[in-house]
Amino acid sequence: MGNENSTPVDEATPPSTLHGRNIEAVAQYIKERDVKNIVVMTGAGLSTSAGIPDFRSPDTGLYANLARLNLPYAEAVFDIGYFRKNPLPFYTLAHELYPGKYRPTVGHSFISLLNKKGRLLKLFTQNIDCLEQEAGVPGDKIVYAHGSFATQRCIECQTEYPDDRMKEVIQRKEVPHCIRKSCNGLVKPDIVFFGEALPEAFHRNRSLPAKADLAIIMGTSLTVQPFASLPSFVREETPRVLINYERVGGLGSRADDVLLLQDCDEGVRKFADALGWREELEQEWARTNPDKGQKKEEDTPKKTRQEKLDDEVEKLTKDIDTSLKLSGETSDRIKADLEKVTASTSPSKAATSPSPKPSDILTTPQTTTTSTTASSLNHVFPHLNEDKLEKPSL
Ligand code: APR
Repeated sequence: MGNENSTPVDEATPPSTLHGRNIEAVAQYIKERDVKNIVVMTGAGLSTSAGIPDFRSPDTGLYANLARLNLPYAEAVFDIGYFRKNPLPFYTLAHELYPGKYRPTVGHSFISLLNKKGRLLKLFTQNIDCLEQEAGVPGDKIVYAHGSFATQRCIECQTEYPDDRMKEVIQRKEVPHCIRKSCNGLVKPDIVFFGEALPEAFHRNRSLPAKADLAIIMGTSLTVQPFASLPSFVREETPRVLINYERVGGLGSRADDVLLLQDCDEGVRKFADALGWREELEQEWARTNPDKGQKKEEDTPKKTRQEKLDDEVEKLTKDIDTSLKLSGETSDRIKADLEKVTASTSPSKAATSPSPKPSDILTTPQTTTTSTTASSLNHVFPHLNEDKLEKPSL
């Protein structure tokens, strides 16, 4: 349980459950024992072939690209303390990552196939892109460990914000505010930011890996706790399969660990071949094709996956950079506005009339656009001068 040693198991050590330490032996184990309690644990690497950048890959990862912006640190975009002071970078990212723009990958379809075959006990995902459900995995089989865009609420009074309005606001790159005028707090999707607690569903289900007859870990660096501990809760004799570019966590340290250190889509195809499910997997994935049924366009030169990913990260980084510049200019303009207002109030009047509250200076629409003038934003930056920021709990 808990953190385990990461020393790779000695090649000479025979597996205790599998006939061999390879994916063919795992497929044989599933068939021979009719394995039905499979727990899957996923991260951003499962969605990169859909065009969504992951976080920590050296070149294409989001954090590597955000690092060159003047964020206090790359993870600030998901830090609740930073969000309170400047929600624009997050909402710029949200505009790009909002569910509905990307097609699930073969990896997502593999999980859906496991479920259709009655073999999925639970999927724990760190991802917020909702591609699992779009691939066909039912909601009751998914634990969104880091939340999702499915719902949103005011971070001050917790009042829910309407789903339809949220979709519009994000599409318009605006910053939504509480529907209760008296509150007007910032609204945030129910995504777990650094410094926030994980959903209750995670804690309610975290005993499941110990009940699994097989664990499959895909596309995650296993960097962020407590999610990163899940694979160590799997019983010692239960096989664990890692499909990931690199070895992570304690995977590979146990006699029945099988590592496919390769692309997630390639790895699940290899797994499906070993199971004799390849054709069903391709059919399952074909169902997610938005162009299905339409005639094939003449073959325009398709961009490679790497090119698409590079374009996506480039666009995201540029958009966030713009929003940061904007919020920088905006905060300067707001400061100038506030100085003008206070300077124009003569000392005697100042004594009698209370100093202008931010809400006195601006009309506080429930949303603000990233190009809104200064005066309507200072409730977004209520503490313009405060410069302390909380570090994420990595
Ligand atoms: N195939 C296989 N592995 C891949 C692929 C791919 N196509 N693309 C990326 N990877 C691997 C990377 O090598 C890395 O090991 O997936 C892993 C992705 O790791 P991260 O970028 O750290 O993503 P993740 O593990 O999901 O991050 C966890 O960190 O910032 C927080 O809340 C955020 O949920 C996220 C958490």
